[in-house]
Amino acid sequence: MKLKVLVADKFPDKYIQQMKDLDLEVIYNPKLGEKDLPEAAKDVDIVVVRSTIVNEEAINYSKKLNLIIRAGSGVNNINIAAANKKGIYVTNCPGMNAVAVAELAIGLMISLDRFIPDNVSDFNKGVWNKDKYSKGKGLKGKTLGLIGVGNIGKEVAKRANAFEMNVYGKDITRIEGVQIKDFSEMDQLLPLCDIVTIHLPATPQTKGLFNKQMFSYMKDGAYLVNTSRHDVVVEDDLLEAIKEKNIRYACDVFKGEPEGKSGEVSSKLQNNPNIYVTHHIGASTEQAQDAVAEETINIIKKFVHSGVIEHWVNRAKITDAHYQLVVKHYDKPGVLASVLDVIRSGQINIEEIENIIFEGGIAACCTMKLQSAATADMLKQISENANVISVSHVEI
Ligand code: 3PG
Repeated sequence: MKLKVLVADKFPDKYIQQMKDLDLEVIYNPKLGEKDLPEAAKDVDIVVVRSTIVNEEAINYSKKLNLIIRAGSGVNNINIAAANKKGIYVTNCPGMNAVAVAELAIGLMISLDRFIPDNVSDFNKGVWNKDKYSKGKGLKGKTLGLIGVGNIGKEVAKRANAFEMNVYGKDITRIEGVQIKDFSEMDQLLPLCDIVTIHLPATPQTKGLFNKQMFSYMKDGAYLVNTSRHDVVVEDDLLEAIKEKNIRYACDVFKGEPEGKSGEVSSKLQNNPNIYVTHHIGASTEQAQDAVAEETINIIKKFVHSGVIEHWVNRAKITDAHYQLVVKHYDKPGVLASVLDVIRSGQINIEEIENIIFEGGIAACCTMKLQSAATADMLKQISENANVISVSHVEI
């Protein structure tokens, strides 16, 4: 039986065809939204989404959902906690739309500096105002603060360098696979910046980062650009900072953003002369959508053909494993079962296990990460199996 893939968002036709060519049954319905997804995803194996919300109901209601692919970067539209409980893989396409988002961020900086949207709007109203709009400061020589120096931040930095700006970055520190959001030095960075641009994921640590306190560190008249996620900025505090410090803000994301591709919109950020808002189009260039679609096909291919989960975001970063047991053995039926029997007899939980075969298919190596230590007696029992070559057990 063919695997069923539901593409519940806009996706280039050429790549829908490539999916079909992988011998998959493909259902393409770009109009689906959060409410219809539970029914639509009920019988599929793979769901591909952009910003369509995959909520707990969609996950729990699904009978055989195995993989959710976010055809983009941020995974905050997917209920990962629910996917974790059902063992459903969640993956994304990191970096594939980074250039497009960086291009928009630079565009917004120039828009703020040269009042481009107001120029256009006045012209269309029949108003000529060269005097009013001739007050751009220019980007050259200005200090830019990148908040988040991941795939997108790096692309912004390259472009800002080409504009001869002084670029500072506040990165997210990664320690042993864990992301530590350390924003402790913002009081030193923000006062230096003429322009600040945010490139952070939506996480509990980044939520509300740009609050009253952060705005108090910013220069009067500084520009703030946000092409990341709306909840990194406290909109009420932003509106106050605009009044008090004449901060100018341009963003691609805002609270209450509609899920669909067209319709009505209502936001606190409307009709403020210091604010420009675009329609969450950061990733929506042909170049970026092709790159994301190609990566999506690549993820599906690997998943279907070799079981490899590329860009797996909900794999545990830290497990409860404290010991590693490596058993080299002859690749024969029942050997591993006998090893596992010994481990079971000790009531030890195996957190991770991998069995790899040496070339020629005679010997194999099984690596297990154990929650608690195997006893000397258990190790002896495992070694006594005539098909076991060697056993090593270390604390990790
Ligand atoms: C992302 O996280 O990749 C961007 O926010 C793009 O979202 P979109 O695919 O819904 O345009």
